[in-house]
Amino acid sequence: MLTGKKIVLGVTGGIAAFKAASLCSKLVKQGAEVRVIMTESAVKFITELTMQTLSKAPVFTDTFDEKDPAVIAHINLADWADLVLVAPATANIIAKMAAGLADDMLSTTLLATEAPIMAAPAMNVHMYQHPAVVRNMNELAQRGVMFVEPGSGLLACGYVGKGRLEEPEQIVAVVERFFEQQDGRSKGALAGKKVVVTAGGTVERIDPVRYITNDSSGKMGFALAEAARELGAEVVLIAGSTTGQPPAGKGIELERVQSAQNMYDAVMRHFDSSDIVIKAAAVADYRPAVQADRKMKKSGDTMTLELVKNIDILEQLGQKKTGQFLIGFAAETNDVEHYAMDKLRRKNCDLIVANDVTSEGAGFGTDTNIVQIYDHEGLVERLPQLSKLETARRILEVAAGRLEGPGVER
Ligand code: CTP
Repeated sequence: MLTGKKIVLGVTGGIAAFKAASLCSKLVKQGAEVRVIMTESAVKFITELTMQTLSKAPVFTDTFDEKDPAVIAHINLADWADLVLVAPATANIIAKMAAGLADDMLSTTLLATEAPIMAAPAMNVHMYQHPAVVRNMNELAQRGVMFVEPGSGLLACGYVGKGRLEEPEQIVAVVERFFEQQDGRSKGALAGKKVVVTAGGTVERIDPVRYITNDSSGKMGFALAEAARELGAEVVLIAGSTTGQPPAGKGIELERVQSAQNMYDAVMRHFDSSDIVIKAAAVADYRPAVQADRKMKKSGDTMTLELVKNIDILEQLGQKKTGQFLIGFAAETNDVEHYAMDKLRRKNCDLIVANDVTSEGAGFGTDTNIVQIYDHEGLVERLPQLSKLETARRILEVAAGRLEGPGVER
């Protein structure tokens, strides 16, 4: 299952370090090439010789012990890895990863690697529940670090609770699933394609403390980014104001923007090299004519705010496209098909995804959507009420089926 996979196994200093021996042996038996890095504390629990014998390779403990003068060991290992697995991961290494510290061989390698990182925490139950540890793990999860949840039971410290390192066979199973998914993605319908997704609402400033925005949660755009990644695409997610949690990790690059103009600039930076652009964002049609650089003071009983038209990003893309596949959205309250087809033609997109935002289970803030997909010929698909992720998958399947040739030259 793991033949040819290169895994850096980081072992940190907790009593569960002894299980790293069994984990290492199982990974090797499954065909993985394993290089072990141990922290100074880990070698107090288990010897380097044990790990060297099981991994059949030299063990790294000291950043400055350069075994091969031709390379810098921590950079070499960081670049070599298909996966860096930290097991057991103590509260200390989790804190160092969250803070970006690099004061030993393992933390330095973790900072230098671009490979996916997986950590299997093991610690006392109170440490595991400590707000600092919870915060650090959340921070890391947002950056795409995968966690193998510890099990519950009698801990070495005598407490019963959550914090016991997951059993080695379970960790190996998670690693295998991870590579299975990754290999699946590299064969996905959008492998090698660049997909730009815009999500959320734009924020149009009135003054430094006031702005105009809308109710967009960003969830539909986030689901599209996730679904595009599942199909193997490299995704650029350009998000305005959102309430949902954006997907993170390998394959999705997140850019935050505020105004429609910022969003336009961000999209244009990627436009030439993109294969598909999806405009799921709720872009404000107007912005204040003047943006005060100081807080505006109240004066009379009424106030008139003059608004001027924003750039229509999708329309601009429709005029500038040179082979990019453009998907627009149309959130309507009535005459859905009529308005959707009008937008599709006016903005020269290849598909338009329309929904009636007044129907229950569709539109802003919900976790589900009910959409119809149109092209220049008319209705392509009428989808039932589905989760936004499932809706996104169907939209991308239609788009992937229509992409021609090897993609846009970059
Ligand atoms: N859109 C855009 N730039 C704008 C306004 C809209 O790129 N300034 C995009 C949206 O992201 C969406 C599509 O155009 O993909 C349709 O958005 P919508 O607000 O429904 O269309 P409008 O052209 O603004 O039409 P109206 O508000 O009159 O319904």
